[in-house]
Amino acid sequence: MSTDHPLGTRVGDMRAIITEDPQSWDILWKQKVTPWDSGEIQPPLRQVVEGGNVPFAKGGRALVPGCGRGYDTIYLALALGTDTIGLDASVTAVEAANELLQSELLNPDVASKIHFEAADFFKYEVPEDGKFDLIYDYTFFVAIPPSKRPLWGSQINSLIKTGGYLITLMFPHVPSHDPQPYTAGPPFYSNFTSYEEVLRAGGGEWQVVSDKIPDDHTLLDPHKGKDRIVVWKKT
Ligand SMILES: C[S@@+](CC[C@H](N)C(=O)[O-])C[C@H]1O[C@@H](n2cnc3c(N)ncnc32)[C@H](O)[C@@H]1O
Repeated sequence: MSTDHPLGTRVGDMRAIITEDPQSWDILWKQKVTPWDSGEIQPPLRQVVEGGNVPFAKGGRALVPGCGRGYDTIYLALALGTDTIGLDASVTAVEAANELLQSELLNPDVASKIHFEAADFFKYEVPEDGKFDLIYDYTFFVAIPPSKRPLWGSQINSLIKTGGYLITLMFPHVPSHDPQPYTAGPPFYSNFTSYEEVLRAGGGEWQVVSDKIPDDHTLLDPHKGKDRIVVWKKT
């Protein structure tokens, strides 16, 4: 593991702890080894939601798998009025997210739309009428073992409505020709192709409705040159 990783040397500590078992993430949360936690809403998410180029519905249901402390989960409910579920396998992460939610002192109507749940994304099920209008993935795809990516694709396909949007904020986005892509991420890496192949293999038709590499000056420091945000519509 290189020591010049954009998220710092704690990414090495993180890799030493994580196993294929999602519960290993709870150890990271308990030990406060959370180098990915930026402490704020991701600027590219704001840009895509507020930019007006994608006609996101107001209201409906949104899901944020691997939500961590939930900055973006809270933001989506505030910006779009969605009933938003932040899902995380770590009970400690969910406690941290609920603490953040309490500390935000939101209007009770908005606060009532935000729910943090401790659950394994790969075992998560909803009834047909509970499918999501919007799913947002930021550093969840790169958190799971690459061998589980096809399962990620089929889960996204089964949880989203036809006509629903998927926002993938790819970080760290690496060129597909990177000879050592798995050394790049927290703990893994992503690029456009890695999402595209498993989304399409997961059973659905997906249209790319927005694809942006944000300007560096708009990004948090560790993200400069390493973000790409793509909005997909399930057709
Ligand atoms: C790299 S962190 C990103 C957190 C958040 N998206 C953020 O950027 O602050 C990945 C998160 O996914 C959670 N996670 C890992 N495997 C999971 C699974 N199978 N189901 C749900 N959450 C999982 C971890 O507990 C961790 O909080």
